[in-house]
Amino acid sequence: MDFDTIIIGAGAAGLICAAQAPGKCLVIDHAKAAGEKIRISGGGRCNFTNLYASAENYISRNPHFAKSALARYTQWDFIDWVARSGIAYHEKTLGQLFCDTSAKEIVAMLLKGVAEAGGQVQLNTTVQSVTKIEGGYAIQLSCPHGPRAVTARNLVVACGGKPIPKMGATDFALRLAQQFGLPVTETYAGLVPFTFSGAQHEAFKSISGVAAPARLQTNGTAFDEAVLFTHRGLSGPAALQVSSYWSPGDVLTLGLLPEEELRRAVREAKETEGRKSPLTIFTRLLPARLVPVVLNDLALPERIADLTAVQLDGLTARLTQWQLTPAGTEGYRTAEVMVGGVDTAALSSKTMMAKTQPGLYFIGECVDVTGWLGGYNFQWAWSSGWVAGQAI
Ligand code: FDA
Repeated sequence: MDFDTIIIGAGAAGLICAAQAPGKCLVIDHAKAAGEKIRISGGGRCNFTNLYASAENYISRNPHFAKSALARYTQWDFIDWVARSGIAYHEKTLGQLFCDTSAKEIVAMLLKGVAEAGGQVQLNTTVQSVTKIEGGYAIQLSCPHGPRAVTARNLVVACGGKPIPKMGATDFALRLAQQFGLPVTETYAGLVPFTFSGAQHEAFKSISGVAAPARLQTNGTAFDEAVLFTHRGLSGPAALQVSSYWSPGDVLTLGLLPEEELRRAVREAKETEGRKSPLTIFTRLLPARLVPVVLNDLALPERIADLTAVQLDGLTARLTQWQLTPAGTEGYRTAEVMVGGVDTAALSSKTMMAKTQPGLYFIGECVDVTGWLGGYNFQWAWSSGWVAGQAI
């Protein structure tokens, strides 16, 4: 065999795997630079992990699958490597760790790890075909200088998911899984803004740029983070989080105020400033531009003192449980992650090797393990890549 291991994809998972893999290892990528998604992530500062990462922060058909890898290579292991590499970092919010200076430092750290392990990274290279051979895999590559046929005992598929095709994202990992008879779960864009149509779209467009803390939920899953109204619909951390749990046609429930706070505000306003309009009262609790848009179709009295019990119920329903039906999402064009992927039922949770294909591994985003917003997806890439590298 030419190599002990060939890794397809020089992204987060592929690079950490190569930094662990013993023997002769080649990482190939069709991009012209390694770790491009790392470089642009977190606004250029890479939210590289989360202090609170655990299997509960991931979506998968098998919610237990991620436990083993996450326990064997934890956020603390990666933080330790970052610290030993002299990379300064900070917690932004909710346990999210970012580089102080630049995401490029993480890419450099990973590439140094690969070089120290004796691995090679070959860019601008595409895979033409993969064939199973006795004791390994034969891979036909198209390199900048022409075609090249290589063989390896192990083949690690680390070529990510479908988000941001403009950056070279492909469904190659999923096609390769299918070629080897591995099941693939339904995939869709996650951590992605919602779009709206008709009157709702016009209304949100009119308050584009307005943000508010909220509780947003769908299908029984809720996130308490900010929402951001945009010229196309709804974004912000709460919307991105919920998008990973949303299917077309599902309703979103937007809570802009806790019910208790709302009822107390109305009670006090009725007692002390009953002549004021409900809109005036609520602009103290919510962004001023948002209030008329949220309440525009409710029949409300001129004076808050005249608000009836029925009207209060309507107001409460609107501000605590506004029912919204998105037209769709922005899709893979802007999504941060692909939900779904290679079915975990076909993989060993300890090694990430395909149960029916000795020497064939799938790691990172192409696997049906999808993290929340906040550094969880990189942690999955580190953990799954590390365990595969150890197993090889
Ligand atoms: P990754 O996408 O990193 O790497 C795959 C590699 O395979 C790429 O280098 C690609 O060029 C290559 N490839 C693809 N198809 C190929 C083919 N056919 N042949 C050869 N090579 C091929 N997560 C997080 O935890 N914190 C964050 O701050 C962010 N921020 C963020 C911002 C943006 C804009 C996006 C799009 C995504 C994020 N993410 C994130 C998600 C995170 O980037 C993602 O989960 C990981 O990069 C996944 O790591 P992988 O190694 O699996 O794929």
